[in-house]
Amino acid sequence: EAADILPPLLVLLAAPRGFCAGVDRAVEIVERSLEKYGAPVYVRHEIVHNRYVVDSLKAQGAIFVEELDEVPDGVPVVFSAHGVPKSVPAHAEERGLDYLDATCPLVSKVHRQAERQVEAGRHIIFIGHAGHPEVIGTFGQVPRGEMTLVETEEDVAKLEFPADTELAFLTQTTLSVDDTHAIIDALKQRFPQIAGPKAEDICYATSNRQAAVKVLAPQVDLVLVIGASNSSNSLRLVEVSERMGTDARLIQRGDDIQEEWLEGVGAIGLTAGASAPEVLVREVIDRLSRFRTVDEQVVTTTEEKMVFKLPRQLTD
Ligand code: F3S
Repeated sequence: EAADILPPLLVLLAAPRGFCAGVDRAVEIVERSLEKYGAPVYVRHEIVHNRYVVDSLKAQGAIFVEELDEVPDGVPVVFSAHGVPKSVPAHAEERGLDYLDATCPLVSKVHRQAERQVEAGRHIIFIGHAGHPEVIGTFGQVPRGEMTLVETEEDVAKLEFPADTELAFLTQTTLSVDDTHAIIDALKQRFPQIAGPKAEDICYATSNRQAAVKVLAPQVDLVLVIGASNSSNSLRLVEVSERMGTDARLIQRGDDIQEEWLEGVGAIGLTAGASAPEVLVREVIDRLSRFRTVDEQVVTTTEEKMVFKLPRQLTD
Protein backbone atom coordinates (compact mmCIF):
# COMPACT_ATOMS: atom_id res chain seq x y z
CA GLU A 1 0.00 0.00 0.00
CA ALA A 2 1.23 3.44 -0.99
CA ALA A 3 0.03 4.78 2.35
CA ASP A 4 2.65 2.64 4.12
CA ILE A 5 5.74 3.80 2.25
CA LEU A 6 4.94 7.50 1.97
CA PRO A 7 5.60 9.84 4.89
CA PRO A 8 2.49 10.78 6.89
CA LEU A 9 0.58 13.85 5.77
CA LEU A 10 0.21 16.54 8.41
CA VAL A 11 -3.23 18.12 8.18
CA LEU A 12 -3.61 21.39 10.07
CA LEU A 13 -7.29 22.02 10.59
CA ALA A 14 -8.25 25.69 10.88
CA ALA A 15 -10.45 26.68 13.80
CA PRO A 16 -12.74 28.48 13.32
CA ARG A 17 -13.86 27.07 9.96
CA GLY A 18 -17.13 26.21 8.28
CA PHE A 19 -20.63 27.16 9.38
CA CYS A 20 -21.13 30.62 10.85
CA ALA A 21 -24.06 31.62 13.04
CA GLY A 22 -25.93 33.11 10.08
CA VAL A 23 -25.70 29.92 8.03
CA ASP A 24 -26.63 27.78 11.02
CA ARG A 25 -29.71 29.89 11.53
CA ALA A 26 -30.68 29.88 7.84
CA VAL A 27 -30.48 26.09 7.58
CA GLU A 28 -32.43 25.72 10.81
CA ILE A 29 -35.13 28.05 9.51
CA VAL A 30 -35.69 25.77 6.51
CA GLU A 31 -35.65 22.61 8.64
CA ARG A 32 -38.02 24.00 11.25
CA SER A 33 -40.34 25.35 8.55
CA LEU A 34 -40.52 21.87 7.06
CA GLU A 35 -41.46 20.51 10.51
CA LYS A 36 -43.99 23.21 11.19
CA TYR A 37 -45.69 23.53 7.79
CA GLY A 38 -44.81 20.19 6.20
CA ALA A 39 -43.29 19.79 2.72
CA PRO A 40 -43.00 21.49 0.38
CA VAL A 41 -41.38 24.64 1.72
CA TYR A 42 -40.10 26.94 -1.02
CA VAL A 43 -36.75 28.68 -0.71
CA ARG A 44 -35.92 31.70 -2.83
CA HIS A 45 -32.29 31.27 -4.01
CA GLU A 46 -29.85 28.73 -2.55
CA ILE A 47 -30.38 29.13 1.20
CA VAL A 48 -26.58 29.24 1.52
CA HIS A 49 -24.06 28.71 -1.27
CA ASN A 50 -23.38 25.02 -0.78
CA ARG A 51 -24.63 22.21 -2.97
CA TYR A 52 -24.48 19.58 -0.21
CA VAL A 53 -26.64 21.70 2.10
CA VAL A 54 -29.11 22.49 -0.68
CA ASP A 55 -29.37 18.83 -1.73
CA SER A 56 -29.97 17.64 1.85
CA LEU A 57 -32.76 20.18 2.29
CA LYS A 58 -34.24 19.16 -1.08
CA ALA A 59 -34.29 15.58 0.15
CA GLN A 60 -36.33 16.79 3.17
CA GLY A 61 -38.88 18.52 0.94
CA ALA A 62 -37.52 21.99 0.25
CA ILE A 63 -37.95 23.38 -3.27
CA PHE A 64 -35.43 25.97 -4.46
CA VAL A 65 -36.44 28.69 -6.91
CA GLU A 66 -34.81 31.90 -8.08
CA GLU A 67 -37.84 34.19 -8.05
CA LEU A 68 -41.05 34.56 -6.09
CA ASP A 69 -43.14 34.08 -9.27
CA GLU A 70 -42.17 30.41 -9.15
CA VAL A 71 -43.72 29.97 -5.69
CA PRO A 72 -47.33 28.75 -5.82
CA ASP A 73 -49.99 30.43 -3.67
CA GLY A 74 -50.55 29.10 -0.19
CA VAL A 75 -47.11 27.62 0.55
CA PRO A 76 -44.45 29.12 2.81
CA VAL A 77 -41.31 30.62 1.29
CA VAL A 78 -37.94 31.27 2.94
CA PHE A 79 -35.60 34.05 1.79
CA SER A 80 -31.91 33.08 1.71
CA ALA A 81 -29.20 34.16 4.17
CA HIS A 82 -27.80 36.65 1.65
CA GLY A 83 -30.78 38.99 2.00
CA VAL A 84 -33.29 40.28 -0.51
CA PRO A 85 -34.28 43.65 -1.99
CA LYS A 86 -37.24 45.30 -0.24
CA SER A 87 -39.41 44.53 -3.26
CA VAL A 88 -39.29 40.80 -2.45
CA PRO A 89 -41.09 40.77 0.95
CA ALA A 90 -43.38 43.50 -0.42
CA HIS A 91 -44.30 41.26 -3.33
CA ALA A 92 -44.79 38.28 -0.97
CA GLU A 93 -47.15 40.37 1.20
CA GLU A 94 -49.16 41.45 -1.83
CA ARG A 95 -49.65 37.81 -2.71
CA GLY A 96 -50.49 36.89 0.87
CA LEU A 97 -47.58 34.43 1.06
CA ASP A 98 -46.31 33.21 4.40
CA TYR A 99 -42.63 34.11 4.29
CA LEU A 100 -39.72 33.50 6.61
CA ASP A 101 -36.69 35.72 6.34
CA ALA A 102 -33.40 33.84 6.76
CA THR A 103 -31.34 36.96 5.97
CA CYS A 104 -28.32 36.91 8.28
CA PRO A 105 -28.85 39.51 11.03
CA LEU A 106 -25.44 40.95 10.18
CA VAL A 107 -26.62 41.57 6.62
CA SER A 108 -29.88 43.09 7.91
CA LYS A 109 -27.78 45.45 10.00
CA VAL A 110 -26.12 46.75 6.83
CA HIS A 111 -29.56 47.10 5.23
CA ARG A 112 -30.69 49.34 8.07
CA GLN A 113 -27.50 51.40 7.87
CA ALA A 114 -28.13 51.91 4.16
CA GLU A 115 -31.62 53.23 4.82
CA ARG A 116 -30.37 55.53 7.56
CA GLN A 117 -27.58 57.00 5.45
CA VAL A 118 -29.98 57.75 2.62
CA GLU A 119 -32.44 59.33 5.08
CA ALA A 120 -29.56 61.50 6.28
CA GLY A 121 -29.15 62.72 2.70
CA ARG A 122 -25.98 60.83 1.88
CA HIS A 123 -25.20 58.94 -1.31
CA ILE A 124 -23.77 55.49 -0.53
CA ILE A 125 -20.59 54.02 -1.96
CA PHE A 126 -20.99 50.28 -1.51
CA ILE A 127 -17.90 48.09 -1.54
CA GLY A 128 -18.80 44.64 -2.84
CA HIS A 129 -18.82 42.18 -5.72
CA ALA A 130 -21.13 42.91 -8.66
CA GLY A 131 -23.89 40.38 -9.10
CA HIS A 132 -23.60 38.71 -5.67
CA PRO A 133 -27.07 38.23 -4.15
CA GLU A 134 -26.06 40.11 -0.99
CA VAL A 135 -25.14 43.13 -3.11
CA ILE A 136 -28.42 42.94 -5.02
CA GLY A 137 -30.30 42.71 -1.72
CA THR A 138 -28.50 45.67 -0.16
CA PHE A 139 -28.94 47.84 -3.27
CA GLY A 140 -32.63 47.00 -3.05
CA GLN A 141 -32.95 48.69 0.35
CA VAL A 142 -32.71 52.20 -1.06
CA PRO A 143 -34.22 53.99 -4.05
CA ARG A 144 -32.48 53.42 -7.37
CA GLY A 145 -29.58 55.81 -7.92
CA GLU A 146 -28.79 56.29 -4.21
CA MET A 147 -25.98 53.71 -4.14
CA THR A 148 -22.84 53.21 -6.25
CA LEU A 149 -20.83 49.99 -6.32
CA VAL A 150 -17.03 49.93 -6.12
CA GLU A 151 -15.13 46.67 -6.34
CA THR A 152 -11.52 47.91 -6.40
CA GLU A 153 -9.26 50.86 -5.61
CA GLU A 154 -9.30 51.65 -9.36
CA ASP A 155 -13.07 52.00 -9.16
CA VAL A 156 -12.61 54.57 -6.38
CA ALA A 157 -10.25 56.57 -8.60
CA LYS A 158 -12.93 56.64 -11.30
CA LEU A 159 -15.71 58.06 -9.07
CA GLU A 160 -16.89 61.40 -10.36
CA PHE A 161 -18.65 62.96 -7.37
CA PRO A 162 -17.80 66.60 -6.63
CA ALA A 163 -15.40 66.68 -3.68
CA ASP A 164 -18.01 68.07 -1.27
CA THR A 165 -20.76 65.51 -1.97
CA GLU A 166 -22.36 64.03 1.15
CA LEU A 167 -21.22 60.41 1.00
CA ALA A 168 -21.22 57.30 3.18
CA PHE A 169 -19.64 53.93 2.57
CA LEU A 170 -20.89 50.46 3.47
CA THR A 171 -19.49 47.04 2.64
CA GLN A 172 -20.54 43.51 1.78
CA THR A 173 -20.07 41.17 4.78
CA THR A 174 -17.89 38.55 3.07
CA LEU A 175 -15.03 40.58 1.55
CA SER A 176 -11.28 40.33 1.83
CA VAL A 177 -10.34 42.22 5.00
CA ASP A 178 -7.09 43.51 3.48
CA ASP A 179 -8.54 44.62 0.14
CA THR A 180 -11.43 46.33 1.87
CA HIS A 181 -9.15 48.34 4.15
CA ALA A 182 -7.21 49.52 1.10
CA ILE A 183 -10.43 50.54 -0.68
CA ILE A 184 -11.73 52.37 2.40
CA ASP A 185 -8.40 54.21 2.72
CA ALA A 186 -8.65 55.25 -0.94
CA LEU A 187 -12.21 56.47 -0.37
CA LYS A 188 -11.23 58.48 2.70
CA GLN A 189 -8.37 60.04 0.82
CA ARG A 190 -10.58 61.18 -2.07
CA PHE A 191 -13.57 62.11 0.10
CA PRO A 192 -12.31 62.98 3.60
CA GLN A 193 -15.86 63.82 4.72
CA ILE A 194 -17.20 60.34 3.86
CA ALA A 195 -19.25 58.79 6.67
CA GLY A 196 -19.14 55.10 7.45
CA PRO A 197 -19.35 52.41 10.07
CA LYS A 198 -16.66 52.44 12.79
CA ALA A 199 -15.13 49.31 11.32
CA GLU A 200 -16.14 47.92 7.94
CA ASP A 201 -19.20 45.66 7.76
CA ILE A 202 -17.20 42.49 7.13
CA CYS A 203 -18.65 39.94 9.54
CA TYR A 204 -16.89 38.21 12.41
CA ALA A 205 -17.00 34.83 10.62
CA THR A 206 -15.41 36.14 7.43
CA SER A 207 -12.61 37.91 9.27
CA ASN A 208 -11.96 35.05 11.70
CA ARG A 209 -11.70 32.51 8.85
CA GLN A 210 -9.28 34.76 6.96
CA ALA A 211 -7.18 35.33 10.08
CA ALA A 212 -7.00 31.56 10.66
CA VAL A 213 -5.72 30.97 7.11
CA LYS A 214 -3.06 33.62 7.66
CA VAL A 215 -1.78 31.58 10.58
CA LEU A 216 -1.97 28.22 8.76
CA ALA A 217 -0.69 29.13 5.31
CA PRO A 218 2.98 29.71 6.24
CA GLN A 219 3.11 26.33 7.99
CA VAL A 220 1.91 24.18 5.07
CA ASP A 221 2.61 23.37 1.39
CA LEU A 222 -1.00 23.50 0.24
CA VAL A 223 -4.23 24.94 1.61
CA LEU A 224 -7.55 23.28 0.77
CA VAL A 225 -10.68 25.39 1.14
CA ILE A 226 -14.01 23.58 1.13
CA GLY A 227 -16.54 25.84 -0.51
CA ALA A 228 -18.54 26.62 -3.62
CA SER A 229 -17.24 28.70 -6.52
CA ASN A 230 -20.09 31.20 -5.94
CA SER A 231 -19.31 31.49 -2.22
CA SER A 232 -17.68 34.87 -1.72
CA ASN A 233 -16.16 34.18 1.68
CA SER A 234 -14.67 30.85 0.47
CA LEU A 235 -13.03 32.46 -2.56
CA ARG A 236 -11.46 35.04 -0.27
CA LEU A 237 -9.87 32.24 1.81
CA VAL A 238 -8.14 30.89 -1.31
CA GLU A 239 -6.85 34.40 -2.09
CA VAL A 240 -5.54 34.95 1.43
CA SER A 241 -3.42 31.80 1.19
CA GLU A 242 -2.16 32.52 -2.32
CA ARG A 243 -1.14 36.03 -1.35
CA MET A 244 0.94 34.57 1.43
CA GLY A 245 2.69 32.47 -1.21
CA THR A 246 1.02 29.15 -0.34
CA ASP A 247 -0.81 27.27 -3.10
CA ALA A 248 -4.51 26.91 -2.39
CA ARG A 249 -7.40 25.09 -4.00
CA LEU A 250 -11.13 25.46 -3.66
CA ILE A 251 -12.87 22.08 -3.45
CA GLN A 252 -16.52 21.13 -3.07
CA ARG A 253 -16.22 17.51 -2.00
CA GLY A 254 -13.58 14.93 -1.01
CA ASP A 255 -13.68 13.40 -4.50
CA ASP A 256 -12.30 16.59 -6.03
CA ILE A 257 -8.88 15.87 -4.52
CA GLN A 258 -6.42 14.34 -6.99
CA GLU A 259 -3.59 12.19 -5.72
CA GLU A 260 -1.07 14.25 -7.75
CA TRP A 261 -1.86 17.29 -5.62
CA LEU A 262 -0.08 15.60 -2.73
CA GLU A 263 3.20 14.97 -4.55
CA GLY A 264 5.98 16.52 -2.50
CA VAL A 265 3.45 17.83 0.00
CA GLY A 266 4.24 17.25 3.67
CA ALA A 267 1.60 19.43 5.28
CA ILE A 268 -1.84 20.63 4.25
CA GLY A 269 -3.94 23.37 5.77
CA LEU A 270 -7.65 22.60 5.72
CA THR A 271 -10.46 25.09 6.16
CA ALA A 272 -14.06 25.52 5.06
CA GLY A 273 -16.09 28.54 4.03
CA ALA A 274 -18.98 29.74 6.18
CA SER A 275 -21.53 27.77 4.14
CA ALA A 276 -19.69 24.41 4.17
CA PRO A 277 -20.82 21.85 6.75
CA GLU A 278 -18.41 19.93 9.00
CA VAL A 279 -19.43 16.60 7.42
CA LEU A 280 -17.54 17.71 4.30
CA VAL A 281 -14.42 18.34 6.37
CA ARG A 282 -14.60 14.71 7.57
CA GLU A 283 -15.15 13.58 3.98
CA VAL A 284 -12.03 15.44 2.84
CA ILE A 285 -9.93 13.92 5.61
CA ASP A 286 -11.23 10.45 4.68
CA ARG A 287 -10.25 11.08 1.09
CA LEU A 288 -6.75 12.25 2.10
CA SER A 289 -6.39 9.14 4.28
CA ARG A 290 -6.80 6.98 1.18
CA PHE A 291 -3.56 8.38 -0.18
CA ARG A 292 -1.48 8.88 2.96
CA THR A 293 -1.56 8.31 6.70
CA VAL A 294 -3.04 11.52 8.05
CA ASP A 295 -1.79 13.22 11.19
CA GLU A 296 -4.56 15.68 12.04
CA GLN A 297 -3.99 18.72 14.26
CA VAL A 298 -6.35 21.56 15.06
CA VAL A 299 -4.94 25.10 15.02
CA THR A 300 -7.27 27.38 16.97
CA THR A 301 -6.93 31.10 16.41
CA THR A 302 -10.23 32.29 17.96
CA GLU A 303 -13.25 30.86 19.77
CA GLU A 304 -16.60 31.79 18.23
CA LYS A 305 -19.69 32.00 20.41
CA MET A 306 -22.10 33.85 18.17
CA VAL A 307 -25.65 32.49 17.99
CA PHE A 308 -28.60 34.21 16.29
CA LYS A 309 -32.23 33.89 17.34
CA LEU A 310 -34.75 32.24 15.03
CA PRO A 311 -37.66 34.27 13.67
CA ARG A 312 -40.63 34.46 16.06
CA GLN A 313 -42.86 32.46 13.69
CA LEU A 314 -40.74 29.39 14.45
CA THR A 315 -40.27 29.77 18.19
CA ASP A 316 -43.87 30.42 19.31
FE1 F3S B 1 -23.78 36.22 8.36
FE2 F3S B 1 -21.20 36.43 8.05
FE3 F3S B 1 -22.29 34.12 8.02
S1 F3S B 1 -22.74 37.82 7.30
S2 F3S B 1 -24.26 34.45 7.10
S3 F3S B 1 -22.24 35.50 9.77
S4 F3S B 1 -20.63 34.76 6.73
